[in-house]
Amino acid sequence: MPIYQQLGKVPAKRHIAFEKDGGGLYYEELIGNKGFVGPSSLLYHIQHPTQVRSVRLVKELPWEADQEHTFRHRHFRTAQLPSQRSITADRVPLLFNADVAMDIVQPTQEDEYFYRNAQGDELIFVSDGGGVLETQLGELPFRKGDYLVIPRGILYRFRFTQQPVRCLVIESRGYIATPKRYRNEHGQLMESAPYSERDLRRPQTLPVHDEKGDFRIVVKKENRLTEFVLDHHPFDVVGWDGYYYPWAFNIADFEPRVGRVHLPPPTHQTFEGEGFVVCSFCPRPYDFDPRAVAVPYNHSNVMSDEVLYYASSEFMSRKGIEYGSVTLHPDGIPHGPHPGRVEAARGQTHTDELAVMLDTFRTLKVSKQALGIEDPAYFQSWVEQP
Ligand SMILES: [Fe+2]
Repeated sequence: MPIYQQLGKVPAKRHIAFEKDGGGLYYEELIGNKGFVGPSSLLYHIQHPTQVRSVRLVKELPWEADQEHTFRHRHFRTAQLPSQRSITADRVPLLFNADVAMDIVQPTQEDEYFYRNAQGDELIFVSDGGGVLETQLGELPFRKGDYLVIPRGILYRFRFTQQPVRCLVIESRGYIATPKRYRNEHGQLMESAPYSERDLRRPQTLPVHDEKGDFRIVVKKENRLTEFVLDHHPFDVVGWDGYYYPWAFNIADFEPRVGRVHLPPPTHQTFEGEGFVVCSFCPRPYDFDPRAVAVPYNHSNVMSDEVLYYASSEFMSRKGIEYGSVTLHPDGIPHGPHPGRVEAARGQTHTDELAVMLDTFRTLKVSKQALGIEDPAYFQSWVEQP
């Protein structure tokens, strides 16, 4: 849960007349999750945000599942995907269920339009690249390793300063937050949490655009994109305050935990959503008992599907993965370290692994688009070769 934030100018009280210096009023807008009871912010616009000139359907984004239903562990080499044009319109779906979806996108161009996701919160992991996330609520510079949390309904546009850009996108039906067990009864992250509010970056600058003309906004709703043309620049917010805004957290700011013997993945939890959790596996020393087996023990993740995105080609318990690999270890089949990895870890002092894990509580479906980059022999990769 982010903390209260105020940027730009706001009136002394909510819902009172807010006069412009040259005459006239600013126009208030509430952006709130779950209507009027969830986290929200109050924005003050130069123009009414409702002034739409035209509307048209732009693109359908169907989620089509793989129809080959042989149940097995899966591995997708996303580095083999060709680049796409747009970070918002050309995401490649990989895995999905009713709660959450995982896409990959390697955009080559900046969008000419502004974008709003009206069906889900977005958690964007910047695997490569850098730039500025421009939003209605201010600018958020981003860099490699950032998680960008963009609650639904917030209008944004990416600007890139470092190419290539490569992002893992997690779209969530529910609200994405810091894990509740890390927060005290007042909402503050506790001393025992693996990061603090100081590590969470919020918009610090709020450029104001007072411009008339045709400005395109693309809204994602029910897996289709619709374009609205406004008669003014939508980033005309002179001030806002509240708890609802985009924020960033760099994976390098996650303080990993190690134990005398191996600690389980929830130790690495970074975010929670409805029906899933996200964990960060970061470079860290190995467990410190001389007899400790540093790599994870075999496990049957009952009632959970485990997905790993490898942001490095190194992962202590795996072999045969590469940068950009995505593995799916579903509920119903045990998984564990690859042959030789337990022995190889003995005597080692640390791991340089970097990976993002998505654990879902409902079964994930594999998209048709993921099939072209699948490693078909992955499910056999635990068999020891003579
Ligand atoms: Fe696992």
